Amino acid sequence: MKENNKSEKTFYITTPIYYVNDVPHIGHAYTTIAADVIARYKKLSGYDVLFSTGTDEHGQKIARSAEMVNLTPLELADKVVLKFKNLWPLLNIKYDDFIRTTEPRHIKVVQEIFNKLYEKGDIYKGEYEGWYCVPCETFWTETQLTDETCPTCGRKIEKIKEESYFFKMSKYQDQILSYFEKNTQCIQPKSRRNEIISFMKGGLKDQSITRTKKSLKWGIDVPFDNNHVIYVWYDALLNYITVAGYNIDNEKFEKYWPADVHLVGKDILRFHTVIWFTMLMAAGIELPRMVFAHGWWTIEGEKMSKSTGNVVDPCKMVEEFGADAFRYFLMREVSFGRDGNFSKDLLIKRINYDLANDLGNLVSRTVAMITQYFNKKIPQPGIKKEEHDVGLENYALKTIKKYYTQMNNLALNAALETIWQFIRRTNKYIDQTEPWILGRDSSQKERLSNILYNLAESIRLSTILIYPFMPLKANEIWEQLGLESDLEKIRLDEDASWGKLQSGILVKPGKIIFPRIDTKKKDPKEVKEDKVNIISYDEFKKIDLRVGKVITAEEVQGTDKLLKLEVTLGDEKRTIVAGVKKHYSAEEILGKKIVIVTNLQSVKLRGIESQGMLLAAVDKDNVVLLTIDKDITEGSKIQ
Ligand code: ME8
Ligand code: MG
Repeated sequence: MKENNKSEKTFYITTPIYYVNDVPHIGHAYTTIAADVIARYKKLSGYDVLFSTGTDEHGQKIARSAEMVNLTPLELADKVVLKFKNLWPLLNIKYDDFIRTTEPRHIKVVQEIFNKLYEKGDIYKGEYEGWYCVPCETFWTETQLTDETCPTCGRKIEKIKEESYFFKMSKYQDQILSYFEKNTQCIQPKSRRNEIISFMKGGLKDQSITRTKKSLKWGIDVPFDNNHVIYVWYDALLNYITVAGYNIDNEKFEKYWPADVHLVGKDILRFHTVIWFTMLMAAGIELPRMVFAHGWWTIEGEKMSKSTGNVVDPCKMVEEFGADAFRYFLMREVSFGRDGNFSKDLLIKRINYDLANDLGNLVSRTVAMITQYFNKKIPQPGIKKEEHDVGLENYALKTIKKYYTQMNNLALNAALETIWQFIRRTNKYIDQTEPWILGRDSSQKERLSNILYNLAESIRLSTILIYPFMPLKANEIWEQLGLESDLEKIRLDEDASWGKLQSGILVKPGKIIFPRIDTKKKDPKEVKEDKVNIISYDEFKKIDLRVGKVITAEEVQGTDKLLKLEVTLGDEKRTIVAGVKKHYSAEEILGKKIVIVTNLQSVKLRGIESQGMLLAAVDKDNVVLLTIDKDITEGSKIQ
């Protein structure tokens, strides 16, 4: 085997190349997003990264799909490839190479390897008799079957008997098994490695790797035999060395090969270990460092399938929730390697709790306080550190260290959990130090300065760590902190340490980074159920209803619905924006005693803060205000 010349600071990561008979769905998005996260992390870590994805365009499956829609296989491929190529940027995925197996650079590599192994005697001609599953593009032997259905997918298989070239897998059986046993890191996660090893202990048979053109034309020709095309998996796996520049660009190949991570779903791990490693071993090419098989997504607890109609379209998710929130959900929801279940409810929960509440609030509160107390200037860190400050700083340092370990182990969800613990810890720091109280006392300016610096610094560090997962949102936060350089150019070893934030730069308060998703509006069914919901007296008591008297009323310019009211509650005045203009004129409403909900979170309507809500009866188009039967003082409680 060739000596490893690969320099330390390069990193090559791949996704499977996807079949073009199917349009991209959540499963393809998952693998490719995960690869993108890892690639971005490695770039921040200073690696020269090659991140590749692509499409698998040959084989029976594509040929048949094309026939069904009256296209040639290549025409079908050309169409579907665009769907993949258009989707990846929408998901903020930035790959370095996209390979199609119909490209000349790839065909050349496949034929060269075929020749090489034939000349070596590792490929020989024989006769194949057996069973084939088209959807899985998999050969089966009699002994692996119980009936005429595929052991993997359960669909009907086909009997094939024809001349074929074989790859001498059996020759490498012991060598490859002992390689896997020795190199424990190269099949991940561990449970899957055990499966592969026990499969291999059952013995490896020589494998049929061509089909005659009578049964299949859509494939790469065997270079020296016009009657045969090469089996699609034998062709597809080689994409990984094509991308790295095998026999085309030797310098590039030496630089990036062997692949550091082949990221795949658990469905195709066997191909990526047993077959792929044996092919490479036979060809004398250095073996990949790791194949990582992630788990399988189900949708609302069910298998995803076209016939059930539950296939999740990533484009729709991006439209509805934004790319980064979708990325966050997929990476956060399941432990990387395990199976996961997708549901919109779970996604919305993650957005509302983790993103809007924990992270979004932290950013907006901090930026607002720096704006209010320091005229937008990031203040100086204090000289004197108090216990809470030291606690926060230590937590930050521990977080960064733990994050590195988890990211390097591809424990992607764990790394996110680590960041969120730190974000929650930072929110707690605000509660502990109560900056809004210090803000009222000018003698506390230095203390306040220190606290707000620490908050901004914690956000800066979190943002760096979040960047691989949510590149766009991280950049938005970055901008609000007043930071300029693109996060892509950050280097962890230089920038991810405490105290790098410069005082004096100006924060830029901006739009809400993660708007909450209103679940009530989303689902009309739920709203209906609300009508019959029983609540306890305690729940009712939480609503503070009071008598208020309208003391001024004016129309809000530029709307046909809104009135701006000033209402007195006796010892307190409130501004309320109410959508009653169509039913009450300003003069009509003036002086009325009405019912006000006083403890509702305030909202801004047309730039005016509405600090409560008035009650009205509504019947279709008719709106009537609730007023008071007999006179009573303003501010009286309604119970
Ligand atoms: O197998 N959950 O292509 P493919 C998680 N062309 N991941 C899923 C998934 C799900 N429900 N569904 C699909 C092929 N995937 C071959 C690969 S590589 C040399 C050739 C992802 O279009 C997962 O990564 O069937 C899985 O391995 C891959 O899509 C299969 O894509
Ligand atoms: Mg598949």
